[in-house]
Amino acid sequence: MTRVFSGIQPTGNLHLGNYLGAIRNWVAMQDHYECVYCIVDLHAITVSQAPAALRDGMRDMTAALLASGVDPDRAVLFNQSRVPAHAELAWILMCTARVGWLNRMTQFKDKAGKDREGASVGLYTYPVLQAADILAYKATHVPVGDDQKQHLELARDIAIKFNADYAVNLFPIPEPVIGGTDAHGTARVMSLRDGTAKMSKSDPSDMSRINLTDDAEAIANKIKRAKTDPEPLPSEAAGLAGRPEARNLVGLYAALAGEKIADVLTRFGGQGFGTFKPALAELTVATLAPINTEYVHLRRDVASLDAVLAAGAVRANAIAAPILAEAQRAVGFIGV
Ligand code: TYM
Repeated sequence: MTRVFSGIQPTGNLHLGNYLGAIRNWVAMQDHYECVYCIVDLHAITVSQAPAALRDGMRDMTAALLASGVDPDRAVLFNQSRVPAHAELAWILMCTARVGWLNRMTQFKDKAGKDREGASVGLYTYPVLQAADILAYKATHVPVGDDQKQHLELARDIAIKFNADYAVNLFPIPEPVIGGTDAHGTARVMSLRDGTAKMSKSDPSDMSRINLTDDAEAIANKIKRAKTDPEPLPSEAAGLAGRPEARNLVGLYAALAGEKIADVLTRFGGQGFGTFKPALAELTVATLAPINTEYVHLRRDVASLDAVLAAGAVRANAIAAPILAEAQRAVGFIGV
């Protein structure tokens, strides 16, 4: 059996990195599999959040996911804090995961920065909660961007150790399904200002990312001002080596057009960014404009957004509660 699970934080708006790395696959997979998609508010509070902003962010993200094509009649869409199994299973799995495993997590190092002593304990144990999210549904496939690979490895290690420690075959070992910007969909979407940094909602410069809520003018302007080098585009993919900004823009074009990088370069090789950037802007606007229009429409109806999440939580709970009970039984909390 295949069951798909993935999650996204409700902080900041959806950007093109989220869309190409994950959400596009979320939408495609709901046609074929049972899918569970979660807005991870428990993860959001691992760094400080103003309550009103968190509430707004939840509705922004719900509207953005629906506008991108997540269909709540097929996929289960809900917010994490409404389904207690996530936090309860996370505690059990915190006793399975090893400190040494968490010490290797690069995202904690990045996010905690220099002030590691001042980071929340939740930020440190964040990847264990992520493993609980996935395992509470016995998910087999997890569509994410490349930056979540390490967290997925940890979830796999936790599932393997739990099954071994308790001599059960409870958790399937989840497979990542990586999206992104090359033909095989494995490259991260990078910042428009720095081709070596990932496009991220936490980047202080809004010029570094394309938000799904940006209008056509903003998108064209961001692409026009995106960092590049002075060389024309190469005719073959090998020519992009050592040119991270060019690589990223060509990758974006390929991902949006559904083409191979080689095919994009066959068309644009030898041409400068003066020709390529307007073509990329046009393609980006064509993809995002319908999502943007739908987002604005859906975001106005707060009651409907809240109702989608509430109904999703009931369905999510119905799947996760019996799996949590199985884990509790395996551990010895309740009788067999
Ligand atoms: P988050 O909210 O940072 O990002 C949501 C999804 O977008 C992908 N993504 C990218 N992909 C390619 N290029 C980029 N520049 C880029 N930026 C973001 C992310 O890989 C992710 O798939 N920890 C997760 C949320 C989470 C989760 C889970 C995911 C919580 N529990 C269980 C999967 C399964 C996160 O913070 O994603």
